[in-house]
Amino acid sequence: MVTKTLEDLVTNEGKHYDVCVAIGPMIMMKFVCLLTKKLGIHTIVSMNPIMVDGTGMCGACRLQVGDEIKFACVDGPEFDGHLVDFDQAMKRSQMYKTQEGRALLKLQEGDTHHGGCGQCGGDK
Ligand code: FES
Repeated sequence: MVTKTLEDLVTNEGKHYDVCVAIGPMIMMKFVCLLTKKLGIHTIVSMNPIMVDGTGMCGACRLQVGDEIKFACVDGPEFDGHLVDFDQAMKRSQMYKTQEGRALLKLQEGDTHHGGCGQCGGDK
């Protein structure tokens, strides 16, 4: 596991890293960020796993980064991994697969839901 290797390199072999770049499955990036936060290593993640149309129209890639709402395809896809709410992004991406889920997200997210896909009404 990448987290085990990284922890071994830093804690057992005394390696020093200024930046970590994590690209891959959401769950891997989440746990890399939890570890690098503990180790004090700035971490950049790539949020393309949650992108669908990649044009800023569908709203699928909406995510919380610190206090801000971002869209991976137009604002990223690279973000400070320590600020990304991975739990919300993973939960949201599952809900986004169904029409009911998209409708619920539109209700919960209001004006920040956006998207011009014409499927969820988030553009209206
Ligand atoms: S992938 Fe970003 S809005 Fe659709």
